[in-house]
Amino acid sequence: MSRSELDFVRDMFDRIAPRYDFLNRMLSLRQDVYWRRTLVAALAATPGARVLDAACGTGDVGLEVSRQSQGAVKVVGIDFAPEMLRLAGPKIQGVNASGGICLAAADAFHLPFKPGGFDAITMAFGIRNIQDKDTVLRRFWDQLKPGGRLAILELGTPGGGTARQAYLFYFNRLLPFIGRLFSSHSFAYRYLPQSVARFPAADRFAAQMSRAGFRNVRYRKLTMGITVVFVGDKPK
Ligand SMILES: C[S@@+](CC[C@H](N)C(=O)[O-])C[C@H]1O[C@@H](n2cnc3c(N)ncnc32)[C@H](O)[C@@H]1O
Repeated sequence: MSRSELDFVRDMFDRIAPRYDFLNRMLSLRQDVYWRRTLVAALAATPGARVLDAACGTGDVGLEVSRQSQGAVKVVGIDFAPEMLRLAGPKIQGVNASGGICLAAADAFHLPFKPGGFDAITMAFGIRNIQDKDTVLRRFWDQLKPGGRLAILELGTPGGGTARQAYLFYFNRLLPFIGRLFSSHSFAYRYLPQSVARFPAADRFAAQMSRAGFRNVRYRKLTMGITVVFVGDKPK
């Protein structure tokens, strides 16, 4: 992925950051909360585990890890958009009394950590913004301990029938319109359907994870396939 593409994605998220949580909840009818809950449950992280939340945005996955583990799992959230991280700060403060979540500005292609230091890695709604997925999957592999787990949540497209047609109308027509009403950065809500359309079908992305070395790669479609959770393990 070229520097200008990365800069484009970072700037876009910086600009939409102030309305990001509000629009997420509204446009997904709060399904995003359930999707992240399912992602985090798939980690099956045990007390004392260390989780890297890549492309953490405003920190919702880290907060969910903390909630599900009652603070017994440590999270390091990284993102390259300073505005998204700035908004995550106050949100994690409550749980952070125990030092459960820390944040760092970093690019997923250049992770500033020693290899093999994490029990699990999450990425929610980040991978479709990354063109060179093979490289990022390799970076994640390096960061995981043997036996570690990668869980990725991404938007998909429901298969066949009226539900698909209704969803495509909502996603391609209504969503950009609502995005334009509530955000002064309407481009981001036109980019969203385009980026989802470019994301490979679930079986193809699962195969890509397998090619990167992950074993027992499986995926589960949520809410009729509007999102997909992918899970793969690094062998012991
Ligand atoms: C749609 S938001 C998802 C945020 C969060 N994970 C969530 O569940 O709401 C995508 C995030 O990915 C980040 N991102 C995209 N490419 C990245 C990269 N190469 N390195 C770090 N962060 C990246 C963006 O800055 C943005 O905050």
